[in-house]
Amino acid sequence: MNNLFSLKDKVIVVTGASSGIGRATAIMCSQLGGNIILLGRNEERLKETLNFLENTGHLYFSLDLNEDDDVDIFIEKLDKIDGIVHSAGIVQSQLFSFLKKNDLENMLNTNLIAPALLTKKIIKKKKINKNSSIVFISSISGPNVTYIGNASYSASKSAVCGLAKTMALELAGKGIRVNTILPAMIETDLINSIDSSSEDIEKDKKNYPLGDYGKPDDVAASACFLLSSASKWMTGTDLKLDGGLTLR
Ligand SMILES: NC(=O)c1ccc[n+]([C@@H]2O[C@H](COP(=O)([O-])OP(=O)(O)OC[C@H]3O[C@@H](n4cnc5c(N)ncnc54)[C@H](OP(=O)(O)O)[C@@H]3O)[C@@H](O)[C@H]2O)c1
Repeated sequence: MNNLFSLKDKVIVVTGASSGIGRATAIMCSQLGGNIILLGRNEERLKETLNFLENTGHLYFSLDLNEDDDVDIFIEKLDKIDGIVHSAGIVQSQLFSFLKKNDLENMLNTNLIAPALLTKKIIKKKKINKNSSIVFISSISGPNVTYIGNASYSASKSAVCGLAKTMALELAGKGIRVNTILPAMIETDLINSIDSSSEDIEKDKKNYPLGDYGKPDDVAASACFLLSSASKWMTGTDLKLDGGLTLR
C-alpha cells in the first residue's frame, strides 16, 4: 500500500537542525525516508544531529542564516529540494518600554527576514521541485496569545504567519504548499533561556489541559505530516499545537 506519510527520496532542508525542534524534525524526516540537509551555525551540534539520522545521503552546512554571502554559497551548492522546515529562531524577553531598535531588528532578521530570503533565493534559482512543501515554525505567541515581555518575538511570529499565507497564495500555481506550525511551550534549550524558576514552570504546565509542555517530537510529527503527501490539499494553514492551552 502507498504510504501517504512517507518522505522517501524527498530532499528536505531543515534550518535550526543543530538543536531542539529542528534536530527532532531532521531525525523524524530521515526515519520516514527523507534525505536531509541540516543547517545551523554550530558545526559540532550539526554533526551530532547527522549521527542521529537514519539511512545515508544526508548533508550539513554550517552557516549563519543572517549572512547573505553564506546563504548564497549554500544555494549555489544545493541541488533540487522537495521541502524546507524553517526552525531556526531566537527568543528574547524584554518589556516594550525598554525595547531598542537593535533588539527588534535582530529578532526580525533571524525569525522573519532570514527564512523569507532563503526561500525566495531557492525559488529564484529554481532549486525547488513542483509539489514541494514549505513549513515555518511560528508560535502561538503572536498569532494567538502573547506574554509580558514578548513584543518583538510575538511580532516576528505573527509576521511569519502573514508571510506564509501570502507565499501559499502566490506559489499554489507551482503546486508548492506553505504552512505554519504554532507550538505552545516545547521542552527545548530555548525555554532554558527564559527567566523562570522550576516552580513557575511546573505551575505553568498545569495551565495545559493535556497536562504538560510539548516535546520536540510533537512538532516534528506535524512538520513531517505537512511535508508529506498526506497533507497535499493543505496550504496557508496555521496548525496550532498547544496541548489545549488556548481553549481556556
Ligand atoms: N521551544 C519552544 O517552546 C517553542 C515554542 C514555539 C515556537 N518555537 C520556535 O521553534 C523554533 C525552534 O526552537 P527550539 O526550541 O528548537 O530552539 P533552539 O533549540 O534554541 O534551536 C534554535 C535553532 O536555531 C538556530 N539558529 C538561530 N539563529 C541562527 C542563525 N542566525 N543562523 C542559523 N541558525 C540559527 C540554532 O542553531 P545554531 O545555534 O547552531 O546557530 C538552533 O539550531 C524557533 O523558531 C522557535 O521560535 C519554539
